[in-house]
Amino acid sequence: MGARLTLERAGVGPEVDKCEAYKAAYMLCVAFYLFERIQFMSSFAATFAVVDKGWFQSIGTAVQKIMQDEYYIHAEFGLQMLKHENLHGWGKKAAQELRPYIIQVYKEVLASEKSFAPFLLGEGRSLPGFNIGSMHTYADYVSQVPAQELGILDSVDQTWVSRNPFPFMEEWLKVDGFQRARQEMDDNAYLIGIMRDDTIDGPMDLDAEGQGPAWLYEPMKHFQNYA
Ligand SMILES: [Fe+2]
Repeated sequence: MGARLTLERAGVGPEVDKCEAYKAAYMLCVAFYLFERIQFMSSFAATFAVVDKGWFQSIGTAVQKIMQDEYYIHAEFGLQMLKHENLHGWGKKAAQELRPYIIQVYKEVLASEKSFAPFLLGEGRSLPGFNIGSMHTYADYVSQVPAQELGILDSVDQTWVSRNPFPFMEEWLKVDGFQRARQEMDDNAYLIGIMRDDTIDGPMDLDAEGQGPAWLYEPMKHFQNYA
């Protein structure tokens, strides 16, 4: 879809249905959010089950950095994009029309995540405290909030898991859960104190009339009839 839009704008391709283009972009945000929020969480849990026992600390520090980026930055970016779009009629309409497809993508991401358990514990491998059941429960546990955010939890045939089967993961996900001596280890607490609120005139309203960059609002005109 991106290529077709580029060709159209360059004047060398046929006109693209802008509603279809918008829905493709919306679906990209959904997929981005689900991948970043759910995928690899089971393997992160396996990693930190080992690191939590005191082994491979440096690897744990590096992987913790990656996990926190996925969880707090990448996934959050996808979610905030969707929340912003859903403020508008076109976003709500896209979410409604794409609902069966969103459910399908969600189920595929979750099934893919669950498929890691038989691999990890197959061919004679084992990890204390881990079995296929607990790993699948953990996959359900980490995916139920995204399902709730997307408004599809009641359609995905999933029992709510109230207790995290791998409680040590709560600590490893905390940005300030571990303090490291900087002369001995890489400091990975870089998410703490990196942002400050410099919007002295109050919150920005990107949707206010006449504000925001033209390149952002020009394409939106196409969707006025879509809302
Ligand atoms: Fe990521």
